Amino acid sequence: MEPVKLGLLGLGTVGSGTVNMFHRAGVEIERRAGRQIVVTRAAAQDLSKPRDCETRDIELTDDPMSIINDPDIQVIVELIGGYEDARDLVLAAIRQGKHVITANKAMIAKYGNEIFAEAEKHGVTVAFEAAVAGGIPIVKAIRESLVGNHIQWLAGIVNGTTNYILTQMRDEGWDFQTALDEAQRLGYAEADPTFDVEGIDAAHKLTILASIAFGVPLQFDKVYTEGIAGIGREDIQYAEELGYSIKHLAIAQKTEEGIELRVHPTLVPHRRLMANVGGVMNAVMVYGDAVGRTMYYGAGAGSEPTASAVMGDILDVVRSLSAGPDNRVPYLGFQLGSLSSVPVLPMEAIETAYYLRMEVLDSPGVMAAVTQILAELNISIEALLQKVPEPGQDTVPIIMLTHRIRERQMNEALYRIGQLEAVQGKIVRIRLEYFDE
Ligand code: HSE
Repeated sequence: MEPVKLGLLGLGTVGSGTVNMFHRAGVEIERRAGRQIVVTRAAAQDLSKPRDCETRDIELTDDPMSIINDPDIQVIVELIGGYEDARDLVLAAIRQGKHVITANKAMIAKYGNEIFAEAEKHGVTVAFEAAVAGGIPIVKAIRESLVGNHIQWLAGIVNGTTNYILTQMRDEGWDFQTALDEAQRLGYAEADPTFDVEGIDAAHKLTILASIAFGVPLQFDKVYTEGIAGIGREDIQYAEELGYSIKHLAIAQKTEEGIELRVHPTLVPHRRLMANVGGVMNAVMVYGDAVGRTMYYGAGAGSEPTASAVMGDILDVVRSLSAGPDNRVPYLGFQLGSLSSVPVLPMEAIETAYYLRMEVLDSPGVMAAVTQILAELNISIEALLQKVPEPGQDTVPIIMLTHRIRERQMNEALYRIGQLEAVQGKIVRIRLEYFDE
């Protein structure tokens, strides 16, 4: 059989990892695929840049379209990232009848509906395992292995950079910027690290996970997204004292009213596995009605872990070359014509527990005034911590955990507490999940 020829768009962190993997495991890959697979061409923006991989046998170009237009290339591996340029290249490849493999979560989250419709029209496949949680085969697990389940919720640490930052702040006492600089140096962070820090990268991944879990269209613009910039080292310490870790979670949950899609810092009890996922590692917990709670853990970023997922997709695509388009696994796990229109809920409608931290004047009646507001709104306090004032300070921090209530009630409570003269500065609110059921 003729070898399958691949063209790589992008020779950065993941592209180099993929080439290295071919050099190291090419024979094994051929044994698994039943035919030879070769990377014959690759596009990179700056051809003079030193590479982390051997490119002697690969024809390099700075013109990705020349690869897309090359009739010898059957499969395009898009590893350049970003939104519009990547979408244009991928759509051009699809229109040329090429199969596409991508690690680009931003592009899939924002333009996936359009890309999949176009791929369907042209009878080609678009594979994107590497787009979510790096080396963890979570797309395959949900889309293929858990098909007998109604997925009720999933929650994950899907951004390695923010998990690394929160872990280093807790374990090493680093400040936020030192931890971010180190994450960038190690190659975990996005080209624009605000995507990591503000939760946008996690929202991209959650968009994809929710679609394959619930069979709904990709709806990136409906994800509530909050980053980690508002988390202080003191919040991490107080949460630890109370028995919780602060994790940056992506949560998708099906309720009777609709679907919750949210990304935000979250307190998680120490006893939960999720609280113990440290450093750059990712983990996704999926709850299915038949299987119960399952958890998938592994490296969510980095060259070879992500290349590992790309390679899995390459094998799937090569094996499926002999299958008709109708026999391939649907992009979102459900046939495109049978996606559900169940609504995504506004954040005000979600129900969760909360951690609150506020600085208040150290005078009589202040605590009573705060708890009075909570009582009036039917918000029950689960734990309360008041620190002694620092020498020379006239304010003290109060830390509270509440029972579960609607976000709408909490917004009202925070507004009213914020109006009290004794409350100084911004009130920190972090949501809390127990994952008990
Ligand atoms: N910046 C991403 C992360 C890379 O930190 O998880 C993997 O998508």
